[in-house]
Amino acid sequence: MSRRTFLRGGASLGTTVIVAKATSVSNAAIQKSILHTFSFEPVLANTEDTVSLPNDFSWHVVIRWGDPLWSSGTEFDPNTRGTASSQEFAFGDNNDGMELFTKGDLNILTVNNEYTNLRIIYGNRSSKLPETIDDIRKGKMAIGVSVVEISQQGGRWSILKDSVYNRRVTAETPTEMTGPARGHYLLRTNEDPDGINPIGTLHNCGSGRTPWGTYLTCEENFHHFFSSSDQSFQLTDAMKRYGIKLNDRGYGWRKQDARFDIAASPNESNRFGYIVELDPLDPTSTLKKRSALGRCNHENAAVIVSESGYVVVYMGDDERGEFLYRFISKEKYHPDRDNSNLLEYGRLYVAKFHDNLRGEWLELTPQTTGMASQAEICIHTRCAGSAVNATTMDRPEWIAVSPNKTDVYCCLTNNRTRGKTPNTGGDATPVNGPNPRPNNKYGQIVKWAPDHNDHDNDKFTWELFVLAGNPTVHSNLNAGSQNMNRDNLFNSPDGLAIDRNGLLWMQTDGNYSNEGDFAGMGNNQMLIADPKTGEIKRFLVGPRECEVTGIAWSSDRKSVFVGIQHPGEKGGGHFPDGSKSVPRSAVIAINRNDGAPIC
Ligand code: FEO
Ligand code: CA
Ligand code: CA
Repeated sequence: MSRRTFLRGGASLGTTVIVAKATSVSNAAIQKSILHTFSFEPVLANTEDTVSLPNDFSWHVVIRWGDPLWSSGTEFDPNTRGTASSQEFAFGDNNDGMELFTKGDLNILTVNNEYTNLRIIYGNRSSKLPETIDDIRKGKMAIGVSVVEISQQGGRWSILKDSVYNRRVTAETPTEMTGPARGHYLLRTNEDPDGINPIGTLHNCGSGRTPWGTYLTCEENFHHFFSSSDQSFQLTDAMKRYGIKLNDRGYGWRKQDARFDIAASPNESNRFGYIVELDPLDPTSTLKKRSALGRCNHENAAVIVSESGYVVVYMGDDERGEFLYRFISKEKYHPDRDNSNLLEYGRLYVAKFHDNLRGEWLELTPQTTGMASQAEICIHTRCAGSAVNATTMDRPEWIAVSPNKTDVYCCLTNNRTRGKTPNTGGDATPVNGPNPRPNNKYGQIVKWAPDHNDHDNDKFTWELFVLAGNPTVHSNLNAGSQNMNRDNLFNSPDGLAIDRNGLLWMQTDGNYSNEGDFAGMGNNQMLIADPKTGEIKRFLVGPRECEVTGIAWSSDRKSVFVGIQHPGEKGGGHFPDGSKSVPRSAVIAINRNDGAPIC
């Protein structure tokens, strides 16, 4: 099918409309602000080892991997790249989703630390792997969440060491399991025979925030940290569904902590893969794992209060051929009451897309899935989705809901196995409506609108907002949709947020080779789209080999915080300190040079 045919609505896609229709964001002030932001001169794709922005903007580093959060901590040592004890009190590695919480003059930046780059964090070792027990524990201390108070002086944001709000959450921080799965036998271990107190949170990817002021950290590829001391160990079907293998990704945790040895503690991995709630303003609070929201490779959590007052959370499972989920709280949100347990119980749904641009949410219950209990559904959520024939998706990454509550957007980053192999549960992954290309190299963003603008409604209408592609290389579907052009080439949309004006901020984590199918795309980047017109412009190019992920705005909207993850991950970059320095993931702040609000 040609690009033109596709755009007109090809045979297999019915009447798919590629460019989104106008939304209803339209008062004069908002219009003015959109123009203010969207009038920037787009940045050219490039392969520089720095951050590139439009002329009227500048950036600075707020915090880097290894920066101590307390004055008693140890400054980052490029020779050792830190120890377990220095890392335990310092900003974690590979920052990802983040949210800024403000109260009066207080600014608390809460940031996920997803995983570690072995060749960088262990770059002092000849094997580029952990070689001592302390090395292994250093890796466990480098992930989780970093909560840091920040302040602005002379136009620059930096951390406030020793703030009472500063906190590190790691793979060793106690948490509490809540909801249907709490205490279930699949969660019980020798160390926690009641199955209610998992230790640690792992692979904290995207984020979310609740209307009652808490942070949601989303456990994604937790399976990467597990391995077996017994190479003849028989993986269960559920372990296979969740990607657990006999070997880990080189982290070696089981040698230091038997919890991560699936042969010794086969239920331990069932205690990860959840949305975890954290109160950033109470550093002594216990993190709550919200099993009611299901278990998968959680990307982020997009929270909205529905017309009728329920808390709705949209969530993607970032794995090839996995699903999109929706949670609706059992109780209503009341601004003047205690809402702290609203995510403890509710209904869980999975998305089914039809090729006629309609879709529906299928509730996951013992009746609909044939599974034994809601607890089991909340632990083996992928199996529940398969049981009701949910639509297999091209790796759902971040989801964002428009401020006027009408539309929801989700990045489907790419999927090399679309049309080729089933997901790990055996569900076929044929080309389908929102996932229209086999061997999907570039990714797309799907948009849906619930019927009657009501996020409780089980029916929705969907369309593709953009099909990423390369019109300078291809003339078929791989050219992408009409709103792709030689000036905004990108692949693999991942991070996503919508500002108060309704503009989409899209971040990429894709192929940065800048050649072949990806010629002209340069490094990973951040683009801004106007949903009213579908127009997309490049706002930022990241440094070499990085991913751009995580975004938050200051309360006055004059600063935007952006995450630069794994710069120089293959040895070809030295961001942010340049020359031959050790590359370090970092949060940067961006301001307009004239000091005006960004959005
Ligand atoms: Fe952690 Fe799916 O990105
Ligand atoms: Ca991501
Ligand atoms: Ca990613």
